[in-house]
Amino acid sequence: MVMRSTSTIPWTFLTMRHRLLSLALLAALGMPALAADPAPAHTFTIGNQDFLLDGKPFVIRCGEIHFPRVPREYWRHRLQMCKALGLNAVCVYLFWNFHEWEEGRYDWSGQADVAEFCRLAQAEGLWVLLRPGPYSCAEWEMGGLPWWLLQKDGIKLRNRDPKFLEPAVRYLKEVGRVLAPLQITRGGPLLMAQVENEYGSYGGDAEYMGALRQAMIDGGFEVPLFACNPAGALKGGLRSDLFQVVNFGKGGVKNSFDALRKIQPTGPQMNGEYYPGWFDTWGSRHHTGDDQGIVNDLAAMLTERRSFSLYMAHGGTSFGLWSGADRPFKPDTSSYDYDAPISEAGWVTPKFTAIRTLFGQHLQPGEVLTEPPAANPVITIPSVTLTAAAPVLANLGTPIVDRVPRNMEAYGQSRGCIVYRTTIPAGPALRLKVGAIHDFGWVFVEGAAVGTLDRRSGRTTVVLPARSAPARIEILVEAMGRVNFGGEVFDRKGLLGPVTLQDGTAAPVEPTGWEVVPLPLDAPQLARLTYGPATGTGPAFWRGSLTVAKPGDTFLDLRTWGKGVVWINGHCLGRFWNIGPTQTAYVPGPWLQAGANEVVVLDLVGPRSPVIAGLDKPILDEVYPALDFTRTRRAEGTPVFAGLSPVATASFTAEATWQTVRFAAPAPGRYLALDLVSAVDGGSTAAIAELELTGPGGAVLPNTTWRILAVDSEDPKGLEAENILDGQPASCWQTARGAKAPGFPHHLVVDLGESRAVTGLRYLPRAGDAQEPGRLKECRMFLGDQPFGLTVTGK
Ligand code: GLA
Repeated sequence: MVMRSTSTIPWTFLTMRHRLLSLALLAALGMPALAADPAPAHTFTIGNQDFLLDGKPFVIRCGEIHFPRVPREYWRHRLQMCKALGLNAVCVYLFWNFHEWEEGRYDWSGQADVAEFCRLAQAEGLWVLLRPGPYSCAEWEMGGLPWWLLQKDGIKLRNRDPKFLEPAVRYLKEVGRVLAPLQITRGGPLLMAQVENEYGSYGGDAEYMGALRQAMIDGGFEVPLFACNPAGALKGGLRSDLFQVVNFGKGGVKNSFDALRKIQPTGPQMNGEYYPGWFDTWGSRHHTGDDQGIVNDLAAMLTERRSFSLYMAHGGTSFGLWSGADRPFKPDTSSYDYDAPISEAGWVTPKFTAIRTLFGQHLQPGEVLTEPPAANPVITIPSVTLTAAAPVLANLGTPIVDRVPRNMEAYGQSRGCIVYRTTIPAGPALRLKVGAIHDFGWVFVEGAAVGTLDRRSGRTTVVLPARSAPARIEILVEAMGRVNFGGEVFDRKGLLGPVTLQDGTAAPVEPTGWEVVPLPLDAPQLARLTYGPATGTGPAFWRGSLTVAKPGDTFLDLRTWGKGVVWINGHCLGRFWNIGPTQTAYVPGPWLQAGANEVVVLDLVGPRSPVIAGLDKPILDEVYPALDFTRTRRAEGTPVFAGLSPVATASFTAEATWQTVRFAAPAPGRYLALDLVSAVDGGSTAAIAELELTGPGGAVLPNTTWRILAVDSEDPKGLEAENILDGQPASCWQTARGAKAPGFPHHLVVDLGESRAVTGLRYLPRAGDAQEPGRLKECRMFLGDQPFGLTVTGK
């Protein structure tokens, strides 16, 4: 395979400052020196064995960084950190929704000015790999897809459906208009560009990939175009006119490159995402990577002249309301620290130092390892009590009148919170039920809180007390980020389906005559709030002032607050939630000023104490499960298998590829139980990356209604059982390890939500090399319509 991009370089698009800086830096750093006039040619091609830069073999040491997750004022600093880490390229996603939040209105300015980000990268001596989507994933709201797609009835996402493809193609052409001039062929830093993202994990339509590829070519992209996938998904949508790269985490080097070689027999081998850490979700422990294991993998890749991209080199922060959600529904934290080598606030970490040392030993001719730039100043801010409050329910604007409640998108609302209000007559206690809640709801009768609704646990009912007079019912719904992975990216918000009231055993009735108030949590809404002295509890905005002598980076301590969103000087820092693991909010110094700084906190459950301070370190790993309001925990008891016949007994191998067990006959049941007898390594730990069931005809059953009912042990470092349902081969469930941890047999029970006819089970062992513990060996499988003697707790 040879893919070629060659041409001369017009310099004119660079500013003089960049041009001079670039020339000096490129010369100093050993990047091919670009002479000013006449414009010299640079070439980047994909040869039969190597990437070829100016005709010479070139190993890409790349790292991912997302410019929306770094304050613009710090772009240069973070790029300098990437360079000092020893990278020679950065990988950059575009999030379509960050540039087209309103259909047809593109924004490439300020924080969205990707062209400037690329120019800065070039000035710092870094090449750029561009990943424009249209779908990106990345723990970003809806994986980067714009919310307004969900307003189109019947739309299919990531599909050739014209309702999706037409706006996606338009967007890619717009990307070309903005970024094609920055390709290496025209003197810029863009070496390659990606089409879609891990599409093989989602679908198998090569023509869809072809349509997007063509849109990029039509948009002016002439550099090599590539596709990335984890090893098990390389074949989905595969096309020979796209260069293929493979994504994996620790221990995956050999398996993954072997799988890549099978589908792409010649050419250099490249990893598209290598995970030095992982993202965090609310309620689970902070993830950290194993530095030595990571260095070993990177060393192996460098020794074999394989290219790679650290995902993430610098994670940063999902500021605003941009963080997405994992599946089964687990909203992502706003901190995207990722345990990346460059910390959320841009600091050098031990991982940075270890990787930099390694990269220093593998520089290519002419490359120089630069020193990290000076650290940015950090300040503390003394504790302040917020005394002004604006209760949410006392600050509702003019409502929309509707017969019955509908989802947020139906009212033209993109995100934030939404209040649904109606009046019901006097009468006995009633059971209020909503079809589905996306994502959290607080129910009030005449302003008094009566219960909560929670998507995670499927809690969709609340009991309304008896009333002696007609009463106002209000349901305040909070939408968190839209799911960013799998079929659940189709994630409409608000109340879904009918709202019904039921009196005893009488048939449910659907009350009509509602008022609906969107609360988009944007600047105009914040400006309309009326504050008074804080009294009482309940959902409210709180306001106060933080005095700063000299601005610097700080971390707002939110440990005494409940759940909500925080702003400083109008900049939305992101979401907070007392259950953790993140307990602070990163404030970039440039967003502060000397003197008074306005802080606004929306707390939907109310603070323990309305105080706020600035710390000099983040708190990323404190979890308080007891503070969670409705999360259903596991069922109680131990499953009983005595007297039951397994539907299948498997003996798995150590190979980290999908292994399928076909049942002798289709087995019906709502509950799946695995009695895990042993592991291939002979140890006491069990681990699973992914689990799927097949139905009649062998099709994989959808798992959106599934819930982990019971599991005997989970590693507290975030390796929880839900990971087997998240579709991510790089994350897994692992039982706890250590002297006191339980050994085999281990068990896992899954509630499928309804009885299904199951014809087989597909198991993906944990990723990595043979040393990774817990790959299953003997396993007995049961299906039944009763939960194997477990006590299922109420929702
Ligand atoms: C996948 C995606 C990335 C990101 C990682 C997990 O591999 O391609 O965008 O979501 O998972 O962080």
